[in-house]
Amino acid sequence: QTVALETIIADKGQHRHFMAKEIHEQPSVIARALGAWISDDRHRIACAAEAVDWSGISRLTIVACGTAFYAAHVAKVWMERVARLPVEIEIASEFRYREPPLPARGVTMVVSQSGETADTLAALRYAKAQGQITLGLVNVTTSTIAREADIVLPIHAGPEIGVASTKAFTAMVLCLSALAVMIARKRGAIDAAGERAHVELLSTVPRLMSETIALEGQFEALARDIAEAKDALFLGRGLMYPLALEGALKLKEITYIHAEGYAAGEIKHGPIALVDEATPIVALAPHDALFEKIASNLREVMGRKGRVALIGDAGACREMGDEVWRSIALPAADPLLAPFLYAVAVQFIAYHAAVAKGTDVDQPRNLAKSVTVE
Ligand code: G6P
Repeated sequence: QTVALETIIADKGQHRHFMAKEIHEQPSVIARALGAWISDDRHRIACAAEAVDWSGISRLTIVACGTAFYAAHVAKVWMERVARLPVEIEIASEFRYREPPLPARGVTMVVSQSGETADTLAALRYAKAQGQITLGLVNVTTSTIAREADIVLPIHAGPEIGVASTKAFTAMVLCLSALAVMIARKRGAIDAAGERAHVELLSTVPRLMSETIALEGQFEALARDIAEAKDALFLGRGLMYPLALEGALKLKEITYIHAEGYAAGEIKHGPIALVDEATPIVALAPHDALFEKIASNLREVMGRKGRVALIGDAGACREMGDEVWRSIALPAADPLLAPFLYAVAVQFIAYHAAVAKGTDVDQPRNLAKSVTVE
């Protein structure tokens, strides 16, 4: 036990906190996870979930808590888009007590870094009792969820020490994306060439994440200003909506700044009332098919003196120009890959805001790495 702890402490390397180390590790974590999820010839996705008859499945239920739930939310968009598979996502603590009807031989997947979260484990047991085929996507392969799920899908993130999840989140998103590609093939939504193209696309993620990590100084400068705020809003649409939720969660967890993540199209139904010059609004907005929609949402908040920090790509930043308070241009990427880049962005914003505030980054108050009680 002592030796293990010493190894972990030594492992922080040149970084001040485990969270910083874990953010920087992500390109290699993603490369390793992808390597474990593809065939030797790198043409197809290869994983234990191929044993399921996906062509006969009409709906997938994914259950998780916290950051893992937001990874599931990204997966829902990927699976609907790439595999044309209807996906329901559920918060474990709601799912387990609501006891929803589930068809026998349907599929429920639980997602958990630790594999020990009490509510997620109870959700798994409920799905099993309903006759569902169960998948457990976990980081810790010796965990209870790994033991009890019918099929275990490891994310290969390595030990994550920081309480606020970073590399486990992006590794979950990577593995869930790979799973979507495999399911797409099994359901006939893509052919062999389409699968190969998706594998090639996923292979570019480590490089894109490294390029995003290289922008750390810009995120740090923005985070110093955000650290002064009492409240912050994160906005996104489509695949950026779960990233907005994750960005708000990360900021709350480690800086104790009140933050809300919102689907940008929903702000007019409430949160726009919060907008004033003291509240930074972090907009996650690549120049994709939804850009014009979010640009008009941002103009609405700026018309009410909102200070918008645009996290976009070169196209998005060019289009918004000086209208926004701040902008940071991430590398241009295929829209499906945006979650990996914007995850790094929101992690750095939370991390550097916490450092600026002097809070305990790796062990935030009131939080535990793994919640094994209700
Ligand atoms: C705790 C952690 C979060 C994590 C959540 C779910 O609340 O602080 O970072 O996302 O549990 O954990 P799991 O191990 O199931 O992914």
